[in-house]
Amino acid sequence: MRTAKIVPLVTSLRSRLSQLPVWTARAYSTKYPQEIQLDGQSYKTDEWTNVPPYILELTKRQLHQNPNHPIGILRDLIQSNFKDLGYTFYNNFKPAVTTVENFDILGFPQDHPGRSKSDTYYLNKTHLLRTHTSAHEHECFLDCKTPGYFITADVYRRDEIDRTHYPAFHQMEGARIWSKDTPNFEEQLVKDIESIPKTNIIVEDPVRDAPTHPGNPKQDYMTEKQAQLISIHLKKTIEFLVHNVFETARESAKLAGSTEPYLNEPLKVRWVEAYFPWTSPSFEIEVWWKGEWLECCGSGIVNQQVLLNAGLTDDKLGWAFGIGLDRIAMLLFGIPDIRLFWSLDERFSLQFQQGKIATFVPYSKYPGIDRDISFWLPGDSVLHENDVMEYVRSHAGDLAESVVLIDEFVHPKTGKKSQCYRINYQSMDRSLTRDEINVIHSKVENDLVDNFDVSIR
Ligand code: DAH
Repeated sequence: MRTAKIVPLVTSLRSRLSQLPVWTARAYSTKYPQEIQLDGQSYKTDEWTNVPPYILELTKRQLHQNPNHPIGILRDLIQSNFKDLGYTFYNNFKPAVTTVENFDILGFPQDHPGRSKSDTYYLNKTHLLRTHTSAHEHECFLDCKTPGYFITADVYRRDEIDRTHYPAFHQMEGARIWSKDTPNFEEQLVKDIESIPKTNIIVEDPVRDAPTHPGNPKQDYMTEKQAQLISIHLKKTIEFLVHNVFETARESAKLAGSTEPYLNEPLKVRWVEAYFPWTSPSFEIEVWWKGEWLECCGSGIVNQQVLLNAGLTDDKLGWAFGIGLDRIAMLLFGIPDIRLFWSLDERFSLQFQQGKIATFVPYSKYPGIDRDISFWLPGDSVLHENDVMEYVRSHAGDLAESVVLIDEFVHPKTGKKSQCYRINYQSMDRSLTRDEINVIHSKVENDLVDNFDVSIR
């Protein structure tokens, strides 16, 4: 099972490198207006532009700001647990950022796959929809007057769509900074660690006392001891966060009448080593939940260069982490399909209220309609399921339930490739008519013919 929504960018992209689609230049030639308006700014489109209108629409929703929506309720819950612990909460950042903010400032190499058009929504060559909340670290490091901060925001990645994947989702970034010039700095770090509320979770962490080694190195400007204490502060903070959220999930499942055995087991987490371009050492936490390890949150000690890029002085050091909210909210509220978060149906929205973790009560689904689309691809051109999904969604919006490549073969004589995709159209809110689906489906066919030169079979 893939877990792209909460898997840190770097790991998920690494594993997906092999499947990167090859875009043809033609695919972008005609589709976009000269300018895209977003949050009062105008962006001149160019050959990098690939953000479709339905994604721009999603940027208006700001689910994390809605106090009665599961994502907003989860944000509130985490914030309330950290209220008196020295953090500032930023929840209003707009989704358009520069490539500098999203990548360069964090030290992403120029050829990093996260920069590719197949994974990221570009407004144009210089601006994109943030792919992670880390894009705002630099401005918060500079602006923040408390020792730490949290940023919650909607983030965007081109992806397939199914029950656990959606191109828009939510992350919460946390960070904490100290000055090395603090009197008795290491003693202060110990005190700060002791002031993190205790948890009773079971922690597997083979490198707790010696978190750095050449493969996950300490930065030169800090001592071994400082790296160790800051790593412990980071890990205990995340354990506290995870403890609160999963204990709440457990309580709400019990209240809803569940008697499953996992609800009586103590919460177990494990730390694994990771790699991110802007932290060293780097770690990830995984939570044992319902019989599997859930990858939850990437983290690490922030590279000094990132802090200097943000305008901080060279005595500063600290940690950062990023956690995906949608998968956790699905567990917390018993929501079976990530797309429900975006539903405008009152049968969904009226089930949730500020401050309450209610278990979602499913309502009937309407039957779907399957349509196949088969074609020959020209020459050596390559078409990816994500590309087809994007065309389907630009005409069908949320009526596109799934797009699956069900057949592919190469003609032995002509060498031409044939593909067949099955598209399932379905509405969360109503029955669809064959006529409306026919109209949508032929628009998809026309787009594929126009942009990829396929011949429909
Ligand atoms: N931005 C990362 C992602 O989207 C998550 C992350 C990892 C954030 C490490 C951090 C960090 O601040 O230190 O996958």
